[in-house]
Amino acid sequence: MKPDSVLYEGKAKQICRSDTPGELMMRFKDDITAFDGKKHDVLEGKGRYNAQVSSFFFEYLEGRGIETHYIRMETPTVMVVREMEMIPLEVVVRNVAAGSMVRDYPVEEGTPLDPPVIFLHYKDDSRHDPMINDEVIITLGILPPEELDILKETALAVNMHLSAYLDECGITLVDLKMEFGRSDSTIYLADEISMDSMRLWDKKTGKSLDKDLYRFDKGDVIAGYATVVGRIAPEIPGGGR
Ligand code: ATP
Ligand code: TYD
Repeated sequence: MKPDSVLYEGKAKQICRSDTPGELMMRFKDDITAFDGKKHDVLEGKGRYNAQVSSFFFEYLEGRGIETHYIRMETPTVMVVREMEMIPLEVVVRNVAAGSMVRDYPVEEGTPLDPPVIFLHYKDDSRHDPMINDEVIITLGILPPEELDILKETALAVNMHLSAYLDECGITLVDLKMEFGRSDSTIYLADEISMDSMRLWDKKTGKSLDKDLYRFDKGDVIAGYATVVGRIAPEIPGGGR
C-alpha cells in the first residue's frame, strides 16, 4: 500500500486504492478521537485491535448469512474490502440505555431495552450526524422504503448475532453503530465492528471495555480493548492482557 494511493483519510481509518478493481484497502489507524474530533490521541496498538475484532466479527457474520464488505486481511491492520457506494446513515441499535439516549431522553443508564431500539443518524460531520427518521430518509431519497426495511432487518440480525456471541464471552453489547454500502444492487454491512463502534460492558463488573474508556477518561483504553480481543478470540496475538 503506497502512501500516494490514499483515496480518503478519515479520523480512524485510511481508505487506499487496491490493484484489484472493485476492492479497497482499509487501514485501521492508532488515532482515536471523540466529541467530533475535539479530543484526539494516538494509542499504539489500537488500530490492530480494532482491525482484528472487525475481521473476526465480519467472518462470523458472513457465516450466519449476513452480506458484508469484508474480503480478507492483508496485514494485521489492513483489511481488504469490497468497494461500496456508502449509504450516508449511521444505524445504531441499542440493547441497554446509555450515551446520547440517556442524555437526550428520560431514561436511566443501564435500563434494558427489549426489544432493541434502532436510532438512525444522517452521516455528516459538519451537521454533527443529526438524528433522522424514516420519512426524512424516504423524502430525501436516501433510500427507498424497501431498502430501508432491509437495512433495519439486517441491523437487528447483526445485533442479535453479536449480542449472543459477546454474552458467551462475559460481555454485554450495550449498543453498536453500523454503516452500510451498496455494490451492484446488493446492500452490504460495511465500515468496522470494533471497540470504537460498540459500547461493551463487562457482565460481572459493569466496567466499560470500549471507546467510553477514552471519551470519559474511565481507564486504560488499550487494556480494555485487549481484554475484548482476548475474550472473543484468544488466538489473536496480544489479546487477553
Ligand atoms: P466517522 O468517524 O464519522 O465514520 P470518518 O470518515 O472519519 O467518519 P473513518 O472510519 O476514519 O471515519 O473512515 C472510514 C470511511 O470509509 C468512512 O467514511 C466510511 O463510511 C467509509 N467506508 C467504510 N467501508 C467502506 C467501503 N467498503 N467502501 C467505501 N467506503 C467505505
Ligand atoms: P451514542 O450514544 O448515540 O453516542 P455517543 O457514544 O457519542 O454518546 O452512540 C451509540 C453507539 O454508537 C456507541 O457505541 C457509539 C456508536 N456511534 C459511533 O460509533 N459513531 C457515531 O457517529 C454515532 C452516532 C454512534
